[in-house]
Amino acid sequence: MLDLLITDANLPDGRLGVDVAVAGERIVEVAPGIAARGAAAVERVDAGGRLLSPPFVDAHFHMDATLSYGLPRINASGTLLEGIALWGELKPLLDHQAIIDRAIAYCDWAVARGLLAIRSHVDVCDPRLMAVEALLEVRDRVKPYLDLQLVAFPQDGVLRYDPRRDDPGCRLTALQLLEKALDMGVDVVGGIPHFERTMAAGAESVRLLVDVAARRGLRVDMHCDETDDPMSRHIETLAAETRRAGLQGRVNGSHLTSMHSMDNYYVSKLIPLIAESGVSAVANPLINITIQGRHDTYPKRRGMTRVPELIAAGVPTAFGHDCVMDPWYSLGSADMLEVAQMGLHVAQMTSQQGMRDCFDAVTRVPAGVLGLDGYGVAPGCFADFVLLQAADPVEAIRLRATRLGVWRRGRLIASTPAQTAQLRLASRPSQVDFQHHRAG
Ligand code: FE2
Repeated sequence: MLDLLITDANLPDGRLGVDVAVAGERIVEVAPGIAARGAAAVERVDAGGRLLSPPFVDAHFHMDATLSYGLPRINASGTLLEGIALWGELKPLLDHQAIIDRAIAYCDWAVARGLLAIRSHVDVCDPRLMAVEALLEVRDRVKPYLDLQLVAFPQDGVLRYDPRRDDPGCRLTALQLLEKALDMGVDVVGGIPHFERTMAAGAESVRLLVDVAARRGLRVDMHCDETDDPMSRHIETLAAETRRAGLQGRVNGSHLTSMHSMDNYYVSKLIPLIAESGVSAVANPLINITIQGRHDTYPKRRGMTRVPELIAAGVPTAFGHDCVMDPWYSLGSADMLEVAQMGLHVAQMTSQQGMRDCFDAVTRVPAGVLGLDGYGVAPGCFADFVLLQAADPVEAIRLRATRLGVWRRGRLIASTPAQTAQLRLASRPSQVDFQHHRAG
């Protein structure tokens, strides 16, 4: 006896009308006709030709800052640097319980949207490591619902930040604070080389942090070249250091926005280096289009990294949400389809394959970046999935489709009624389902 049988589901890889059988927490079979051959199940769900996707995954977020919009004031210029300054003003005012409350409120939103895995950076430039303690607690508490992976992120620069600025009695360096966060259980090594004082210091920070990861057997995810300065080339160092340390497949460069402004000849050499180094990339479309180009008059640069070119070169490239209602961004709602839709537009990925790549960039690809186990709609994988009011990935992005059901380990944890309208027009259907309003 199966625990759950979902029938007539379309999958993101293009398979149509398959059945998905679940026993306990795992998928045991994915094939057409499981129901037709009479398989018994405790619960059956008719997907009705709709898209059953593995959960959305956000490869880049800041859960310690989320939902703090307006505290202690609003970012007037909208720039990255004012956002960092504003976060610096907010940090001394943070409260352990308030961080937890805001983070868990965000996790509620995430679950409702089918976002069941998040990699969140957590600021370690704080002698108290208050946000680290809080988010470690959140990671444990939300585990039944979503996977929260934490990155030890030195927001003020691992070489630039002096902890004695905030606590004259502190005897630790910023690097020691970062290592302490890792000792406490933070999962991934972060960095921010473009925020160090010089290019040389930025490169040195990359080397130091890659060594920490190699010594501890951890993954790396650095904020890298989040600037419009085409000479910000820390991704080159990150790729080279990844090879030196033998960390291929375990290192990610986040943002990489300077690549938007780089000379094409240099990029033709850089992207193959990234690909050969096994380094993945995460663009953050909502934030990049909002924050980059702020020093431009007109024409204004879009600022997002070269997503289609990275994908064409074989670099795993994901989209992250980065910020929701925090010092850097006043909007957002944990909706990774909104993120995919913005990425699609900014990168002009309007071909059928391009749009499908954008869906993969908020599902399958970031799952690989995080190294999630048991991810996917396939036998042996966890029974974690989202049923969308859409027939395929392109329609899901176009409609920012309603999440009809969200399952975690075979258990329904969120549901939303289908979006329909009731009309009374002669010779027209009385109920309009948005999914079926398709051209052609
Ligand atoms: Fe970020």
